[in-house]
Amino acid sequence: MESNVPNPNPELLTAKLLEADELMEDEEFHHLNNPADGIKPIVKKYLGTPNHAEQLGNKFYFTDGDASVEVVVVSSEIIRIRLAPHSVFLDDFSYAVPKLPGKRVEFTLFEDEKEYRVSTSAINCHIRKADFFISFSDKDSTVTSCDAAPMHWEENTQFGGYYVFCTKTCAEQESIFGLGDKATELNLRGKRLTNWNTDAYSFGFNQDPLYRAIPFYISVNQGIAHGIFFDNTFKAHFDFGAEDVTKTSFWADGGELQYYYIHGPHMMDVVKNYHLLTGTHPMPPLWALGYHQCRWSYYPENKVKVIANGFRQNRIPCDGIYLDIDYMDGYRCFTWSPKYFPNPKKMIAELASAGFKTVVIIDPGIRVDDNYWVFKEGKEKRYFCRRSDDYFMEGHVWPGRCQFPDFTNPEVREWWGDLFDDLVETGVAGVWNDMNEPAVFGSGTFPDDVRHQYDGFRGSHRKAHNVYGMQMVRATYEGLRKQMKNKRPFTITRAGYAGVQRYSSVWTGDNVASWEHLKLGNIQLQRLSMSGISFCGTDIGGFSGEPDGELFTRWIQMGTFSPFMRAHSAGDTKEREPWSFGEPYTSINRTFIELRYRLLPYLYSAFWEHHRYGFPILRPVVMQEQDIMANHFRQDEFTYGDKILICPVLESGQQSRKVYLPKGKWYNWWSLELVEGGQEVVVQTPLDIIPIFVKAGSVIPEYPVMQYINEREIDEVKLNIFYSDYEVNSFVFEDYGETFAYEQDIYLEKKFVVKGTADKLTIQQSLEGLYTPRYDGYHIKVNGLPFMPARVVADGINIATITSNPDKTYEFKFSKNFKQIEIFK
Ligand code: GLC
Repeated sequence: MESNVPNPNPELLTAKLLEADELMEDEEFHHLNNPADGIKPIVKKYLGTPNHAEQLGNKFYFTDGDASVEVVVVSSEIIRIRLAPHSVFLDDFSYAVPKLPGKRVEFTLFEDEKEYRVSTSAINCHIRKADFFISFSDKDSTVTSCDAAPMHWEENTQFGGYYVFCTKTCAEQESIFGLGDKATELNLRGKRLTNWNTDAYSFGFNQDPLYRAIPFYISVNQGIAHGIFFDNTFKAHFDFGAEDVTKTSFWADGGELQYYYIHGPHMMDVVKNYHLLTGTHPMPPLWALGYHQCRWSYYPENKVKVIANGFRQNRIPCDGIYLDIDYMDGYRCFTWSPKYFPNPKKMIAELASAGFKTVVIIDPGIRVDDNYWVFKEGKEKRYFCRRSDDYFMEGHVWPGRCQFPDFTNPEVREWWGDLFDDLVETGVAGVWNDMNEPAVFGSGTFPDDVRHQYDGFRGSHRKAHNVYGMQMVRATYEGLRKQMKNKRPFTITRAGYAGVQRYSSVWTGDNVASWEHLKLGNIQLQRLSMSGISFCGTDIGGFSGEPDGELFTRWIQMGTFSPFMRAHSAGDTKEREPWSFGEPYTSINRTFIELRYRLLPYLYSAFWEHHRYGFPILRPVVMQEQDIMANHFRQDEFTYGDKILICPVLESGQQSRKVYLPKGKWYNWWSLELVEGGQEVVVQTPLDIIPIFVKAGSVIPEYPVMQYINEREIDEVKLNIFYSDYEVNSFVFEDYGETFAYEQDIYLEKKFVVKGTADKLTIQQSLEGLYTPRYDGYHIKVNGLPFMPARVVADGINIATITSNPDKTYEFKFSKNFKQIEIFK
């Protein structure tokens, strides 16, 4: 096969030198080269030419005589590249990828005078003999990713190891997505960004870095997508054509140059394969998908009860209620303030009997206090982080002077997990992990020289910083899981690294009550979803500052379609409950929160599709139609699961707005009007409406409105069926909603197929699985029928009672086990 890799650049050497010069001028590296800092100038080294190739199972090694490159065939679509400057590879350990997928893959190694080529059924990895450029191409020999310089490195004379660099070409039309929670446009082309977990209180547009480090991006060029996952936990940098429009570079301040090339060709394939490497969210307890109310802080106990009563009195559904740091005794984790919460067990039980699940905050900073059992235990067991010279890492956070557990030590994680036994016994249902970037007042975070156990692979804080928060919430999650027996724990975290989704949901941190932040939140959640973190939400209303009723309501409307829905606000702000702004806001907020609860079975099914099959829950329209260039710049509208399209209202006073609908037919959720997609439409957006569209042919399941999950037994589920003249599949997942029985395959997957003609609509259902829901029947509502139904036959039985509504919808009831329903003209 002829390869499409561009010919070696005759001016390669000059280019290399020029590039080295450019990066030397770069601020990031300036100190490395500034003799005034007393550090020797650093020489950048490049791979030479590969002169030897060796194969060991699915691993290939190429060397230039000194440095080596490892190429691992992970799957047909995924290849991992590693660089070892002097051919000594580090131990193969990653917090993001606990285990490489173990599927057997077919691959071949080919060699000619120009290149070595490792090929699977889907992709080729080319190693060019002239200059060690590495590139990837697909089955059709289209080059999708290509080095613009050989991989390179600089020795780090201060800490040891290397600064490692990879530079690839960036095509004219190439767009870039992903990278977690960056506070900027959805398309990252033209940006330079850094990954270093940072407590970014009231962050601004374009502020970087923020709370999480997700070194995974998706490129789309000429309609073909691929992903790069740079699994390096050190401070890492990405330049997507910012410095040089023709180049994408990523580099890190230490560790190995190790990245995964993940092939598409669709963005969805890339995201699914990224999930294959780093995992998905476990199924949450169903209540965690309900509405959550939070504030810094609801205290004392009576205030918590007043808020809880407020929900029930106002008939606004709510499942989660949060206790921020003031529930603790002097901000000491795992304690209760005897003054404000004298009897937490009783309070939590009372809340639980009214349907509220109590979630408490926990911080990593442990107060230095010999009379405090957590500190004493941690000190005795030597579980707190230490500096390079063995002094304890100390810093000030909420409780004052603190030390910090080393969550990268498995023994410390186990200890931490066990510390939750009292909280679980007290009735706590979820744990909110905060300040785990880790944040330290004054200095920002730990100094670089702090040592970490790193699961036996040792490292300084430079290496452990970005995973610290993830390992904290992992410890929390695993501890809760152990103590809650078969019940699903709920966790939320602020900081994280790739793979954090295996342990927790995420919120976007301390945002601001402004329209700009509403917009930003919308982008951040789509981006997080594409970057492995589907269970995400913003602080509804904005953490700092004061929203007015309109902004709060618009935020509730967007939050209705955030996988995680929680209102939260800083302590110095006014009351911020869904009824705090009076009418008409209270009623609109109620309607939307009710809608959240009505659509819970739909969200839960989308969650299952995420958990089991690796689909993101929120999908920007570029994920539906990546071959349309204009979609690379759309960032307002997204689909929620694969059937419902949402476009939040993001501006004050906006009475109508444009919405782009991908190709196909869509129903306006409110008016049931059928609209042709593939175009922008204008939608009226009075305060009580945001654009919601449903794909023709969908079956959308709906629960009755309840004030909280399991308020009462569900006696029937509504199926909203939307007529389509082409065949459409829908999917519904059901199970117990709170246990791990799904891991033993106890669940039910329902598949619906809807197909209409001019005189007939057929709906088929097939069921698979071991779970049996307790309700008996469906309340079926058919929307958009182009004819008056003369006859409805379900599994051969004529349905006698059909309600015809003024809006030309038809309703009837039938058994939940039906196989086929036919509606005849
Ligand atoms: C941090 C958190 C915020 C919390 C506050 C007090 O700022 O991001 O959500 O309310 O700390 O615990």
